[in-house]
Amino acid sequence: MKLAIAFDVYGTLIDTNGVLETLEALIGDRAEAFSRTWRDKQLEYSFRRGLMQRYLPFPVCTRQALEYCCAVHRVALTDGQKQRLMGAYGELPAFADVSAALAQLKASRHRLFAFSNGTREAVGALLARAGIAGAFEGVVSCDDVGSFKPDPAVYAHLLEVSGVTADRAWLISGNPFDVIGARSAGWHAAWVRRSDDAVFDPWGIEPDCTIAGLAELSAVMPD
Ligand code: 2OP
Repeated sequence: MKLAIAFDVYGTLIDTNGVLETLEALIGDRAEAFSRTWRDKQLEYSFRRGLMQRYLPFPVCTRQALEYCCAVHRVALTDGQKQRLMGAYGELPAFADVSAALAQLKASRHRLFAFSNGTREAVGALLARAGIAGAFEGVVSCDDVGSFKPDPAVYAHLLEVSGVTADRAWLISGNPFDVIGARSAGWHAAWVRRSDDAVFDPWGIEPDCTIAGLAELSAVMPD
């Protein structure tokens, strides 16, 4: 039976540091710290909204996290500049290894999905822009569930959409919280450790495998 291979999007296929260029033009050498806080806060807001059952779509988390960053980093941006940053977020690039790895996997018999906190529109636009939308059978968005990773309901939703059982589902993600969420839901998972500085959470819930980039993926996936 075919596997369902679900790729996390932000931080796995798509490089959230792609906002750095726009940020550097606006705030110079504070860009890197600002970008890190922006991403961390965006995720924190999604976790908190999931727990509180106060769902609002991921772009709202991103926009509210941007407001938080401006306050905490004491950066005064105009509405136009904030819009420019949100625009850059909507045009983030894919990591360099993505296109070839997807083509290689697509040649296998497995079914590939993009699986994200992001809305179908936002994710679809990013994948199309990167020229990789055709690799996927579909985009599965947590927006359909009204919650965020790592709520077990979103992993169950992908199984329902794909008709695959948890033991035939693989998550490929650069985000440790997502890998742990998938493993906790009974899936297999590969952690894409894109930086030597990346640390996996010491929860005793481990990925099936760890790879440094997507070029290594087809070698570690079962037939
Ligand atoms: C995604 O779902 C977690 O941001 C990550 O694409």
